[in-house]
Amino acid sequence: MFQVARNILVTGSNRGIGLGLVKELVKLNPPPGHIFATCRNPTGPESKALQNFASQHGNTHVIQLDTADLSSIKRAASDVESHLKGKGLNLLINNAARNSLAFSLENVDQEDMLLSYKINTVGPLLMVKEFLPLLKKAAKETTKGHVGGPKAVVINVTSVVGSIGQGFTSLPVDVPPLYQYRVSKAALNMVNACLAVELKKDGISSVLIHPGWVKTDMGSEQAPVTVEESSRGTVKVIAGLDSSSSGTFLDWEGNKIVW
Ligand SMILES: NC(=O)c1ccc[n+]([C@@H]2O[C@H](COP(=O)([O-])OP(=O)(O)OC[C@H]3O[C@@H](n4cnc5c(N)ncnc54)[C@H](OP(=O)(O)O)[C@@H]3O)[C@@H](O)[C@H]2O)c1
Repeated sequence: MFQVARNILVTGSNRGIGLGLVKELVKLNPPPGHIFATCRNPTGPESKALQNFASQHGNTHVIQLDTADLSSIKRAASDVESHLKGKGLNLLINNAARNSLAFSLENVDQEDMLLSYKINTVGPLLMVKEFLPLLKKAAKETTKGHVGGPKAVVINVTSVVGSIGQGFTSLPVDVPPLYQYRVSKAALNMVNACLAVELKKDGISSVLIHPGWVKTDMGSEQAPVTVEESSRGTVKVIAGLDSSSSGTFLDWEGNKIVW
């Protein structure tokens, strides 16, 4: 995968794990041609760290992309296409997601449930739909040094808490029901299973990765894993993917997670 991850896009890359992934991907050898570091508000204070980083790395482009807004996704796809100048997109990392303070049945709220579904489930699916022509292009390219394995990969960043079999039993602390978050991630897991089946004919792989419990705004200071550790592990797992990995649910250390 390292050999072919020439052109890469990450959603929600202005902070947390998304920013960590961009910083880790830049270190790939050979370096990626283009890293499209996308975020909702590239000019806001929340994107300053990303802007500073991109200003020091010529292959990193900051692009506006709100995964809950189809017109923004379409605009970003067209921006990326013009940067790629006829080349394809080899790696699409659907990282952006939300959680909320609705922790239990008492706080379940219709709008909040639907917003998490829109961002965490539908967003990644629309991303694949709109970037499909560029992913297909990458899958068909003849790449120097390519020694087998997929040339185009979708990574859907999910969570172990969306696992029905493991999401209540294998965690170091008691995580509340978090209906909006767990349900949207469980649905994302099925989105990935469908993508793996549908995209097989195009030579595109689609894999779920749980990044660990990570010290970010979402994961909190209590989390045992740093952004750097999680991102390093995740990029290593991506580097080790082969065509048989499509449809699997892995964690940042490469362990299989049950559905
Ligand atoms: N941290 C953990 O312990 C943990 C555990 C398991 C899974 N995960 C998963 O890992 C991924 C990254 O999580 P994180 O911990 O880095 O979360 P985070 O610190 O809360 O960051 C979330 C990122 O997603 C972006 N985002 C939210 N809604 C968006 C939208 N509609 N369009 C574009 N970007 C949007 C945010 O942008 P703004 O700055 O604009 O809000 C931010 O960049 C998520 O998929 C999460 O579910 C995290």
